[in-house]
Amino acid sequence: MIGLIDSGMGGLTTLAALVERGCDHRFCYLADTRHAPYGERDSLSLIALGERWAKRLVGLGADAIVLGCNTLTMAALDYLQATTSVPVYGVRPPVVEGAMLLGTSYTCRKLGRGVALPRLATLIDAHYPDLPPIRAYLEEQLGGRSADTVVLGCTHYALVKDDISRILHAKTIVDPSVWLARKLPRAVGGQGVGVDLILTGEGDRGRYVEVLTSLLGHTPKIV
Ligand code: DGL
Repeated sequence: MIGLIDSGMGGLTTLAALVERGCDHRFCYLADTRHAPYGERDSLSLIALGERWAKRLVGLGADAIVLGCNTLTMAALDYLQATTSVPVYGVRPPVVEGAMLLGTSYTCRKLGRGVALPRLATLIDAHYPDLPPIRAYLEEQLGGRSADTVVLGCTHYALVKDDISRILHAKTIVDPSVWLARKLPRAVGGQGVGVDLILTGEGDRGRYVEVLTSLLGHTPKIV
């Protein structure tokens, strides 16, 4: 079983990339809605949260942990790789020459580059797939700008990549989850996708299942 961690819905796009690649069929998805947004936190609190949730997922039987969150990867991947008893992977934005990087405040600050969209992940968690409030924010932040290539430095942003692409007139969108999925071993066999869904705080489980169903193209078994 792969244990996946994000602050909210963003990591579902990582889960979908892993399924697409055939990496595994059993997941425990942990959305840390109680401590979201991660992008406004500092390194120490992100490391502490990463450690807490990685331990919990290993306790539930995870053979590998995937940080479906660029912010958590930037802050805690090295620490978690050194201290966790199973392999730990994380999505992180690749360097792409000439591309515009979009990310959380934490990720842009840590990398010293990129355009931070501090409210976007929270808006997506609150409204997606209801797009108008999210589009209004994107227009306000990105309207009038353009970029040929855009790197999605936050897994939440993959849910609205078509809107980002339209507003920025982008030709290429780089999604780090797809890059990460190529690094994980593929699973043999499998009986369909099974997902155990943990929300640490408030959140509408039904909406998580709805979003995952639309990403996968079929309803996963929720266990
Ligand atoms: N999805 C996360 C990321 O990839 C973080 C969003 C947030 O909670 O700020 O960075």
